[in-house]
Amino acid sequence: MANKMDFLAIDDHSYADLRGILDLAKAQKPLARNHELPHTYTNHVLACVFAKPSLRTRVSFEVAMRQLGGESLFITDKEIGMGTRENVYDVAQVMSRFADAIMIRWFDDNEVQELAKHASVPVINGLTDLTHPCQVMADILTIEEHLGTIEGKNVVMVGDGNNLANSWLNAAIRFPFNFILACPEGYTPDEGVMNKAEAAGASFMITHDPKEAIEGAHVIYGDAFYSMGQEEEAVKRRNDFAPFQINSELCAKADKDHIVLHCLPAHRGEEITDEVMDGPHSVVFDEAENRMHAQRAIIDTVLRKG
Ligand code: CP
Ligand code: NVA
Repeated sequence: MANKMDFLAIDDHSYADLRGILDLAKAQKPLARNHELPHTYTNHVLACVFAKPSLRTRVSFEVAMRQLGGESLFITDKEIGMGTRENVYDVAQVMSRFADAIMIRWFDDNEVQELAKHASVPVINGLTDLTHPCQVMADILTIEEHLGTIEGKNVVMVGDGNNLANSWLNAAIRFPFNFILACPEGYTPDEGVMNKAEAAGASFMITHDPKEAIEGAHVIYGDAFYSMGQEEEAVKRRNDFAPFQINSELCAKADKDHIVLHCLPAHRGEEITDEVMDGPHSVVFDEAENRMHAQRAIIDTVLRKG
């Protein structure tokens, strides 16, 4: 159990391991597109557990596992009732007897960490309230493809200090870029995540002025004003975040060769306009496709090391 490799947060891993995942993703991408990937993991099963809805995460993980020759299972929280029907330890024990790896989308990050601690198979974080590491790995892959490197780039997130902002802060511990978040007051990232990034010497800045933030942006990053589980706050958040819309006027202040990313799903006309989302700087669908390539490399890596 001690030697297995989980993928729960970006900064849990060395730069060398993260580089290896990105390079593997790049090497496998053309093979996957041509249906030429070797079936390295026949007879292997990835259990995919979801407590929240998903398009990209579910489909990209399930397809990625099939591309490697394996199988995937889709399981909802209602069925396994982790923490209610059965405790996390027992779920971890039983799942480890059936599956070769577990991917989980959950609310409480601590429960995912507990699952990983007690599971003898690798556990991959497919989004929690705290982080979304697979998304940011796919985002870095997309940035490297379009801008050549992330080194020295200004990655400017406009919006909520949420799970994506936290994962960007984690990434800034390992990758040499500048992370800038423009968020309304009261919507800053997790205190512990910010403290860790600061202690590690990561380059980041939090501001409440989107116009200041966007000056010199190489990457403009968007996400919903309210995350899954925060639907009841939608009205208040729409109001609080109104000045934080990614629109053409704001983007005009960025670097002339900037790219626009959004993890999706987008609320078009709310946090991002159609004009930007469908505009010449937008690479949001390349980014979505890269979920599959980045995650296939993560699955491949944890199964090899696990
Ligand atoms: N970006 C992302 O995780 O999308 P889904 O919620 O559709 O999986
Ligand atoms: N912050 C969003 C990301 C969705 C992919 C959420 O947690 O709902």
